[in-house]
Amino acid sequence: MLVDEQRSPDLSVEPARGPVAVLGLGYVGLPVVLASVESGLEVIGFDIDTGRVAALEIGHSPVDSLSDKSLDKALATGRVSFTSDPRSLAAARTYVICVPTPLRDKLPDLSMVTEAVDLVARVLSPDDLVSLESTTYPGTTEDLVAQRIEAVSSLVPGRDYSLVFSPERIDPGNQEYRLENTPKIVGGVTDQCTAAGAAFYRRLTNHVVPVSSPREAEMAKLLENTFRNVNIALVNELVVFCRELGIDLYEVIRAAATKPFGFMPFYPGPGVGGHCIPIDPAYISWRVRQLGSSFRFVELATEINDRMPNYVALRVAEMLNSVRKSLNGSSVLLIGVSYKPDVSDVRESSAFPLARQLMRSGAVVSWHDPLVPEFVVDGTPVPAVKTLAAETLDNVDLAVVHTDHSCLDLEALIRHVPLVLDTRGTLRGRAFNIQGL
Ligand SMILES: NC(=O)c1ccc[n+]([C@@H]2O[C@H](COP(=O)([O-])OP(=O)(O)OC[C@H]3O[C@@H](n4cnc5c(N)ncnc54)[C@H](O)[C@@H]3O)[C@@H](O)[C@H]2O)c1
Repeated sequence: MLVDEQRSPDLSVEPARGPVAVLGLGYVGLPVVLASVESGLEVIGFDIDTGRVAALEIGHSPVDSLSDKSLDKALATGRVSFTSDPRSLAAARTYVICVPTPLRDKLPDLSMVTEAVDLVARVLSPDDLVSLESTTYPGTTEDLVAQRIEAVSSLVPGRDYSLVFSPERIDPGNQEYRLENTPKIVGGVTDQCTAAGAAFYRRLTNHVVPVSSPREAEMAKLLENTFRNVNIALVNELVVFCRELGIDLYEVIRAAATKPFGFMPFYPGPGVGGHCIPIDPAYISWRVRQLGSSFRFVELATEINDRMPNYVALRVAEMLNSVRKSLNGSSVLLIGVSYKPDVSDVRESSAFPLARQLMRSGAVVSWHDPLVPEFVVDGTPVPAVKTLAAETLDNVDLAVVHTDHSCLDLEALIRHVPLVLDTRGTLRGRAFNIQGL
């Protein structure tokens, strides 16, 4: 149930509590640090990675979605400090946990959340606020977080302190929607907890969306990312059939998207990547399996998306075959190896299984990506092509546009590489040597 922010008196009276400690200074935590500083709060940025903390202290941003300039601006206020010393956390009144929630052996790995919660539990005082932002399965906040905090500190949420789940919705590389103009969902263990969480987040964002418990907030995040995963799988499956039927799927999507209601365009690609889309659905799927059921939509979508890198490798082989070349021994250049355009993040990028598959088949693989410093597949660094020019492209038999960063100039590629497989539809119709998925 959505709580009506306007009609709930509790939600407007709670003061925001500072200083704020942000645990986990990555793609999610750092924007929270900067927004909190901007709102006038004192901030302690905590991370177990001492190298990351040292870089932040001298104004070097470790994530590409956050500039050194904005970090410098925050440092200049004198209201932010970065540390790996857990004792510094004791000065905070609000704790925001933004640590990774990966998979281990395809199962949720909450070990980093547990470690961060234990650090908070040791210094938590009555009336403090704790917010978990890491994506996780429903029940984590009320079961794991509340119980660990109580075990260490004897503090009970709703009675002694406030505990909320507030999912981060950051979209790295998105210039339009940032933390401050993306509505923030807040679900507290009690209404008073929600009020405390809402009071804090109202300082950082234009719009807070309170929900009735952490479970609704946890599930909302999983629904958002599962929705994306399933719809990407739909067009990924369709692109294969459209090719066989001789239909241009991009034109189909463009036409369908003219419907002003009930349709949202999604586009095919070489697979899904990043920290969220391939991982989060596994969290809900795991939770549903504990009920004795399977979340078939999620499992099917994962299967289809996971097949895409192999399909791309198959298309590469087909294209080479059409000019009487075999994949074995051909030189294949991957353009863009991060998981999506305009970010340097290679986590879970489909470029890894694609490169692996091509190399297994005997292709000589190289890569070009101005945003990514290195591309190491199964412990082996793949040779980089630093610039796209006639001389560097001379021996390339086929190039795969894997990630279409806006900074890429692909003119030399189109002119000098005999075959180009464009997995993103970015070069459609540009030249006879270009094919799509
Ligand atoms: N990246 C995104 O676009 C995005 C979007 C929405 C939600 N999320 C979720 O947010 C969470 C964080 O993701 P991220 O992309 O910011 O990760 P990240 O890897 O960019 O940053 C996480 C940071 O946490 C630190 N860390 C690990 N254990 C710690 C501990 N015990 N105490 C303090 N710091 C610790 C790591 O050193 C790292 O610097 C994940 O649950 C993720 O699913 C990510």
